[in-house]
Amino acid sequence: MKAPNLLILLGSPILLMLCGSALAQTAPTSPILLKGAPMGAVKFDHTPHVKVAGKCEICHHVSKPEKPLKAPQQACTDCHTNPATPPVTTKLQAAFHNPTATAGLCIGCHKTQNSQGRAAPVKCADCHKKINA
Ligand code: HEC
Ligand code: HEC
Ligand code: HEC
Ligand code: HEC
Repeated sequence: MKAPNLLILLGSPILLMLCGSALAQTAPTSPILLKGAPMGAVKFDHTPHVKVAGKCEICHHVSKPEKPLKAPQQACTDCHTNPATPPVTTKLQAAFHNPTATAGLCIGCHKTQNSQGRAAPVKCADCHKKINA
C-alpha cells in the first residue's frame, strides 16, 4: 500500500519536468540580428545570455492578455514594432531600453553585471553596429 503511493509522489515532479521540456523550444545557437535602429543592427547571442540569465523568462515574458503568445519564445519583433502596433503599446525600442539607454531589459542587467566586474555593453555604438548591417 505504502510503496505505490511513494512511487507516485516521486514520479509526479519528474513527469511535470518532462511535460515542461516537451513544450519549451531550444534557444538558437547562432547569433540573431535585431534590425531597425538607424545606428545599425544589434547582434544578440543566446549562448552567454542563457548562462547568465538562468532562465528564458528573464527576457521572454509570459503571455499577455492584450496579445497572447503563439509560442513560449515568440520573436519580440513580431509584436514590438516602430511605431507600436495596437493592441500592443510597448514600441520596439521600449521592449529593450528607454530612449537614453539608461534603463530597460537589456541595459538593466548589463549595468548590474558591470558593477560585478563583467564587461557588458551600455553605450549605443557597442550594441548598434553598422557592420552588423
Ligand atoms: C537575455 C535575453 C534572452 C534570454 C535569457 C533568452 N532569450 Fe531567446 N531571444 C531573445 C531575443 C532578443 C530574441 C530575438 C527576438 C526577435 O528576433 O525579435 C530571442 C529569440 C529567440 C527565439 C527565436 C524566436 C523566433 O521565432 O525567431 C527562440 C526560439 C528563443 N529565443 C528561445 C529561447 C530559449 C529556449 C531561452 C532559454 C533557454 C531563451 N530564448 C532565452 C532574448 C533572450
Ligand atoms: C505575442 C506578442 C508579444 C511578444 C512576442 C513579445 N511581447 Fe513584450 N509585450 C507584449 C504585450 C501585449 C505587452 C503588454 C504591454 C503592451 O501592450 O505593450 C508587452 C510588454 C512588454 C514590455 C513592457 C514591460 C511589461 O512586461 O509589461 C517589455 C519590456 C517587453 N514586452 C519586452 C519583450 C521582449 C524583450 C520580447 C522578446 C524576448 C517580447 N516582449 C515579446 C506582447 C509581446
Ligand atoms: C540577465 C542579464 C542580461 C540580460 C537580460 C541581457 N544581457 Fe547582454 N550581456 C550580459 C552579460 C553578463 C554580458 C557580457 C558577456 C560576457 O562577459 O561573456 C552581455 C553581453 C552582451 C553583448 C556583447 C556580446 C559580445 O559578444 O561582445 C551584447 C551585444 C548584448 N549583451 C546584448 C543584449 C541585448 C540586446 C539584450 C536584451 C535583449 C541583453 N543583452 C540582455 C547580460 C545580460
Ligand atoms: C544592450 C544593447 C543596446 C544598447 C547599449 C543600446 N541599444 Fe538601442 N536597441 C537595442 C535593441 C536590441 C533594439 C531593438 C532592435 C533594433 O531596433 O535595432 C534597440 C532599438 C533601438 C531603437 C529603435 C529603432 C526603431 O526602429 O524603432 C533606437 C532608436 C535605439 N535603439 C537607440 C539607441 C540609442 C540612442 C542608444 C544609446 C543611448 C542605444 N539604442 C543603446 C539594443 C541596445
